[in-house]
Amino acid sequence: MPRRGLRLGVALVLLLLGGMGLGVVPEAWAKGAQSAAVDPYIGQPAAIDAGEEIYREKCIICHGRAGGRGPDLFAITLSDAEFLKTVENGRPGTLMPAFGSRLSPDDIWRIRAFLKANPNGI
Ligand code: HEC
Repeated sequence: MPRRGLRLGVALVLLLLGGMGLGVVPEAWAKGAQSAAVDPYIGQPAAIDAGEEIYREKCIICHGRAGGRGPDLFAITLSDAEFLKTVENGRPGTLMPAFGSRLSPDDIWRIRAFLKANPNGI
């Protein structure tokens, strides 16, 4: 059983590296993932960097380096789908704005990949 897990892990890493090299797979994943509501950018360095830039520009003012006026997004346990929906629609009646007209789903996934890459905040 552990061996099997290891082999699967190696296969996934190879797939990821291959995909990044070709530059095709992440796009394909992104398309499929939007309907499946799964973040296609988890663990992808370029997307994580882009997500950090957006976070610093649009979210850090309230959510801080590990929480602030808004909850600590580095520690939340929302599903990918709930995260996307919350950021697109905001939370009416709270300070949380709707970003649906300002950020694409891909950009929201990039933010999420950045948050997931830094579970203890920045
Ligand atoms: C003006 C302040 C403000 C800004 C800017 C802001 N947020 Fe929020 N956000 C909040 C507040 C306040 C809450 C808590 C809402 C509530 O009480 O449910 C929140 C909640 C959330 C939640 C839900 C957390 C949970 O555990 O339910 C997510 C996800 C989130 N914000 C993501 C983002 C992202 C991503 C950005 C940047 C694109 C962002 N927010 C920008 C204030 C802000």
